[in-house]
Amino acid sequence: MKSCYTALSVALVCGSALTNVFGFDVNSRSNLATYWGQNSYGVTHPNHSGPEQSLEELCRNNAPSDAFVLAFLHIFNAGTDKPPQMDFAGQCNTTFEGTQLLKCPGIARGIKTCQSKGKAILLSLGGAVGQYSFNNDKEGRAFAHTLWNMFFAGKDSKALRPFGDVVLDGIDLDIEGGSSVGYVAFVSTLRELFAQDKRKRYYISAAPQCPFPDHYMQPILNEAWIDMLFIQFYNNYCGLNDPSKFNFGQWDKWAKEKAVNKDMKIFIGAPGGPKGANSGFVEFSALRSIIESTRAKYPLFGGVMFWDTSQAMNTKEGGSSYAQLTANFLKQA
Ligand SMILES: *[C@@H]1O[C@H](CO)[C@@H](O)[C@H](O)[C@H]1NC(C)=O
Repeated sequence: MKSCYTALSVALVCGSALTNVFGFDVNSRSNLATYWGQNSYGVTHPNHSGPEQSLEELCRNNAPSDAFVLAFLHIFNAGTDKPPQMDFAGQCNTTFEGTQLLKCPGIARGIKTCQSKGKAILLSLGGAVGQYSFNNDKEGRAFAHTLWNMFFAGKDSKALRPFGDVVLDGIDLDIEGGSSVGYVAFVSTLRELFAQDKRKRYYISAAPQCPFPDHYMQPILNEAWIDMLFIQFYNNYCGLNDPSKFNFGQWDKWAKEKAVNKDMKIFIGAPGGPKGANSGFVEFSALRSIIESTRAKYPLFGGVMFWDTSQAMNTKEGGSSYAQLTANFLKQA
């Protein structure tokens, strides 16, 4: 297979029938996006040895994800002189001198490998644990400039760049605390900055929990341009485990009628394994039929999101990972 990596266009021909080529295309309806960096499987399986696979390992071995969402940038320090902070469990342990900001050359190498295979890498802001919020729109706008210079094509030579010269593909909002203040200004400023770079398309995703409307995210979602919605169908009454309460249709209706970007793609967010969330996990056969019926019914369906990569890669059915089974099914139909 090695020789096939050189050009994506020939890989389909030289790969075996069982080997799909995975790459991100925002317009497709078969994307698999997986959160990476919190090693959920390792945490929920204490006897499991080692941290989750590095991005380098995953992408070298043609991991089935089309997009990886790095989790998390969980402390903003907005409105202060301090840089924001990130946490990637054991995947990055070094910081810029005099700061708490991670400096991650290993992750940077992994991102480059993944991007060379057509995968998109987004950075997720927020998470269930963290300290993040803006006091006002001005802080939101300033933070967009900060991140543009730290992770994207910004040219501020004084900016600390955790991934060196790597240019990420976008930002994900997983706002589960703090407040909704400042995020609409943040997103619109970031989009203005993204538009300055004519060589590259950037994406903004958001990951509300399934109960509609989402407490922290809805005021943001109602006014900000969002490319992809990764809805968390777990940990709630509307999780995938109860088909009668599955409310994809409610979100679809909101997107078509109220969203700024009425063509956004909506993903089924699922736990990647039985312990990926407190509730919501379903076996592959059940997930497959949910995907099938949702995709048939809703044109905005864009694919599946898993929390997280480690769960979806380590959860096996019949010798294949849950991630691989899902990606194959998404691609083949
Ligand atoms: C970071 O530290 C942890 C715990 O000591 C270790 O397991 C891990 O391999 C280290 N990660 C890197 C990238 O060096």
